[in-house]
Amino acid sequence: MASEKVTWKCIIPCCYKSQSHLQKSKKQVSKQSSFRRLSLTDVSDPSTPLCAADLSNSLIGSKLHVFSLAELKAITNNFTWSNLLGEGGFGPVYKGFVDNKLRSGLEAQPVAVKLLDLDGLQGHREWLAEIIFLGQLRHPHLVKLIGYCCEDEHRLLVYEYMARGSLENQLFRRYSAALPWSTRMKIALGAAKGLTFLHEADEPVIFRDFKTSNILLDADFTPKLSDFGLAKDGPEGEDTHVTTRVIGTQGYAAPEYIMTGHLTTNSDVYGYGVVLLELITGKRSIDRTRPSREQSLVEWAKPFLKDQRRLDKIIDPKLEGQFSTRGAQKAVALAYKCLSHQPKCRPVMSHVVSILESLQELNDWFVGPFVYVAPTENGSNEYSVKEEIIESEGETDDNEENEQRHHRHGWRLRIKSPISLPLVASEDIVGYLATS
Ligand SMILES: Nc1ncnc2c1ncn2[C@@H]1O[C@H](COP(=O)(O)OP(=O)(O)OP(=O)(O)O)[C@@H](O)[C@H]1O
Ligand SMILES: [Mg+2]
Repeated sequence: MASEKVTWKCIIPCCYKSQSHLQKSKKQVSKQSSFRRLSLTDVSDPSTPLCAADLSNSLIGSKLHVFSLAELKAITNNFTWSNLLGEGGFGPVYKGFVDNKLRSGLEAQPVAVKLLDLDGLQGHREWLAEIIFLGQLRHPHLVKLIGYCCEDEHRLLVYEYMARGSLENQLFRRYSAALPWSTRMKIALGAAKGLTFLHEADEPVIFRDFKTSNILLDADFTPKLSDFGLAKDGPEGEDTHVTTRVIGTQGYAAPEYIMTGHLTTNSDVYGYGVVLLELITGKRSIDRTRPSREQSLVEWAKPFLKDQRRLDKIIDPKLEGQFSTRGAQKAVALAYKCLSHQPKCRPVMSHVVSILESLQELNDWFVGPFVYVAPTENGSNEYSVKEEIIESEGETDDNEENEQRHHRHGWRLRIKSPISLPLVASEDIVGYLATS
């Protein structure tokens, strides 16, 4: 059966002025299962401008709750500093708590409330994109959007609370135990399943901003993708790609996307490869505090990825040898494929999932110089090789601290460029970089 397109007005009818249309929309959405998913382009229609004044009606056809600003202030202790979970390009994120006293039927649970920074670079469009995508897509590896608020110029989003925060925090935090190898592979697999779901949907979605800070972790380290503000509907019909302005985060964006503005699901696979490499190496995709030839993780690691015998050069020293050699070799080979310069040579995400599934249970732990303990004459144990590693860890830690500081101050580089970039060398792209 030919599917009919649902319009944006059907989803948030109270954003529109025409009430007669609202009645019609209700009828349409009641049959939504046979309809196409609402696309972001529906929102961009200039003939139907949004009126953000009244969002008192709840979303039709979706289970999202509409909250008032006062309610969200109350549940976050007035957006107090002690409830702050973090801050990104959209704005600060606060912890709160909801239950059925706030809305009947609302399960008692902690939530994360994301508040648009009115002086920031993101705005209404990113907020809408989040609601459009997460309001309609549900999957165990996508963060659950519980509701939103739209009052005057204020824009807020309410999500399920993810107890372990972002993968970025878990992987690069200074004073904490290293994430074990099996946890890293569990996260890699779950995140790959989330991307597969998006790419293989009836109407595919390109995530566009795949990175460690957008992978949130549950109490048991189940990963969920968050931040659909930059997500795009995939190409339609005969089209092979979507042409769009280049936007994303430096260090994760695929080279062909940076060069041409052509976006495909393959661009996400590249970003996935970068994250997999970060999981393997424990190093950030871009680190300005490293020597110049090592600042880009992909550039630095690529020669080692090709040669399985050089695994020890790239594997995270914080793992202290506690990983499956075969598993790590497979993961490295997979990262190499995902990072292929040729988009068509990259695997599809379902293939990535099957490879990662095959290495979850491997336990042939690597035994090598990392765990070598040399006894000394006076009987004490001398961790000679380990000392070296600790030294180099110290170096990394300083770097990590700098990076964390950069992030806290919002220095992570965002790529933003006008649409239809001329073909330029990737170094020239630096000219298009803007901080966020
Ligand atoms: N649902 C959530 N549960 C728990 N913590 C969250 C949740 N969402 C966000 N956070 C915390 O808030 C921080 C900021 O998240 P946010 O997605 O706004 O920015 P970011 O991903 O760090 O940066 P960017 O704007 O580049 O995407 C996260 O790193 C995480 O620690
Ligand atoms: Mg994020």
